[in-house]
Amino acid sequence: MGSAQGRSIRVPLVVGNWKMFKTSAEGAAFVHELIESIGPLGDREVMVAPPFTGLFEAVRAARGSRVSVAAQDVFWEREGAYTGEVSAEMLADLGVAAVIIGHSERRRDFQETDEWVAHKVRAVLDSGLLPIMCVGETADQREAGSTRDVLGSQVPTGLAEVRSENAALVTIAYEPVWAIGTGKTATPEMAQEAIAFVRGQVARTLGAEAGDAVRILYGGSVGPDNIDELMNQPDIDGVLVGGASLQLAPFSRIVHFEKQ
Ligand code: 13P
Repeated sequence: MGSAQGRSIRVPLVVGNWKMFKTSAEGAAFVHELIESIGPLGDREVMVAPPFTGLFEAVRAARGSRVSVAAQDVFWEREGAYTGEVSAEMLADLGVAAVIIGHSERRRDFQETDEWVAHKVRAVLDSGLLPIMCVGETADQREAGSTRDVLGSQVPTGLAEVRSENAALVTIAYEPVWAIGTGKTATPEMAQEAIAFVRGQVARTLGAEAGDAVRILYGGSVGPDNIDELMNQPDIDGVLVGGASLQLAPFSRIVHFEKQ
């Protein structure tokens, strides 16, 4: 797999997905506190993903700091008669650095498909932003033994429109749906196994170099108690954090993960 070799070039990434929480003032205040708490940590990247309404103030609060800002969704067209949608260019114009795409809540509640995910990943890359593409199996799929089938379909389909020169810019988040907001975390070994499989799918789809370069995050009930173990797995390059990213103390502890 070459993970150990690729590991040195994959800068660890911690992303807080605020989902539909925090006003823009609350978000900006949080970013200021987060910057203070991060201090001089230089070997990792930290992002927060506010709702659309909080992006402007969060970007302003993060300016010149080690924190950057991600959006939680995007539409793939540049502009047009698409009421309610926001384009990647508009996010770039605001100073947003990355976009979460295909989160399981969007797949489940808003019927997003792998094909939509592929269009969004392409649009985000074309605008010079970083896509964070989410994949993961449901409880039923895991129980049925089809985790690999699900990941083996979501990853190549979602990456289908990525051009090879952009491959290394892709980040993937493996979030088993049964672990999201449930307090049930995949064990570090389960997460490692699935993520190593995802890395293999990236290599198959975009080439071996991309397989080594692409950062793959784990998400699903990440907290202060499991962060260090997760980050010590060879293929886990970071985390996508929901609930525990809403308060400073747990999120700061996660950002300060310790890796041997
Ligand atoms: P929790 O950390 O609340 O389980 O949410 C995970 C998630 O969905 C992050 O995108």
